[in-house]
Amino acid sequence: MTTAAARDIYSPDLYVAGAPHELFTELRRTSPLYWQDMPGEPGYWAVLKHADVEFVSQRSDLFSAASGGIVLENLEEDRLEALRGSLLAMDPPQHRAYRKPLVKSFTAKVVGGMEARIREITQEIFATLPAEGVVEFVHDVTSSLPTQVIGELMGLPREDWDYIHRLAERNTTSQDPNVGGGEEDGYGPGAASIEMAKYAIGFAMKRRVEEPREDLTTLILESEFGGKRMSDVEFGMFFVQLVTAGNDTTKTMLAAGLHALLTHPEQLAAVRQDPALVPGAVEEILRWANPLHYFRRTATQDVELRGVQIKAGDKVAMYYTSANRDEEVFEDAQSFDISRRPNPHLSFGFAEHFCLGVHIARLEGRVFFEELFASFPRIELAGEPTRVRSNLNNALKTLPVRMYRTA
Ligand code: HEM
Repeated sequence: MTTAAARDIYSPDLYVAGAPHELFTELRRTSPLYWQDMPGEPGYWAVLKHADVEFVSQRSDLFSAASGGIVLENLEEDRLEALRGSLLAMDPPQHRAYRKPLVKSFTAKVVGGMEARIREITQEIFATLPAEGVVEFVHDVTSSLPTQVIGELMGLPREDWDYIHRLAERNTTSQDPNVGGGEEDGYGPGAASIEMAKYAIGFAMKRRVEEPREDLTTLILESEFGGKRMSDVEFGMFFVQLVTAGNDTTKTMLAAGLHALLTHPEQLAAVRQDPALVPGAVEEILRWANPLHYFRRTATQDVELRGVQIKAGDKVAMYYTSANRDEEVFEDAQSFDISRRPNPHLSFGFAEHFCLGVHIARLEGRVFFEELFASFPRIELAGEPTRVRSNLNNALKTLPVRMYRTA
């Protein structure tokens, strides 16, 4: 039985040793809508069951992303207002007006057209690694792929990719003192986002006077959102959102994915032998090691859920980490099983805000693992991984592995 003190699912410290799956399992049984206090501000309702996470995601009339934002900590009004410029923190009808023009650039078909470039980018990253040796997989291998893919998608000049990547790395809204923006190097909280937004504003100004191209930047600059074009400032905020949304999450999927496979060697052997198993493995990695623990909503009115009275204004957190292991939906939910079908995990959210980059993320995952196994027939753990201290990002901080180009 877990003690009351250990039931603090807000504390970022709880997550350093890994997601608290035993505790979530117990809470799903005993209090699937769990009230959690927070230091210095009102606490929140943790929604732990799969069906309830779907319900909250679907009912944006009852649970708003805009009114209090999407993280548990209440933000200052100016930061909240800036956040409301991003899709993630908009409510319908504004959300639909902004999302609709973008959807056509993110379909499986359009994204599929990027496969060859993503493969090339992945191969270029692998080419920088030694023929045999220990690498820190999170930083040396996974970290630049997502920003380079966004660079490609947006048509950023190649010489700027490194710069955007460095800013993205600092942009991590991390509770870990060793990750993300620190005051000491001139990047206080939010400074990297502001610098990135400024870069994007300059980029938009330049592109407006150039010939249109076949990329997302042209599409955004030429589309109407709610009846009007995006201003350069709006473009800047949107750009930051795209880079941020796709960066840590994808990195995490790749690093946690390799770790999951290395610790399940029989499944690693199977997927190495038959690359057709890679897409199923990627889905199971996403379910079992979901990159984001939760996103928040705020109740717009009094609502009763599972017999619990949620009051208007209450914070409500949708715990993907718990929903993905809900035994009412997943058989043998705690086991990692790359042959799991169907696999209705909620790692990309659900309904209104369902991840716009889902096809990009899946493609990056598939291509990355196909190329990894083709380039490195042998990979071994070379030490214990460490984890980011965060109640939001379910991420590895370091993963030392030894990689061999020959078997
Ligand atoms: C493994 C990688 C990824 C994971 C786990 C992930 C997860 C999520 C989740 C949970 C949401 C919010 C769902 C909600 O609030 O209901 C979301 C939204 C979003 N994601 Fe992703 N994401 C990933 C990769 C990407 C990539 C690569 C991009 C872009 C290139 C991207 C762009 C977005 C955007 C723009 C939204 C906001 C959509 C909206 O509010 O309408 N994501 N993602």
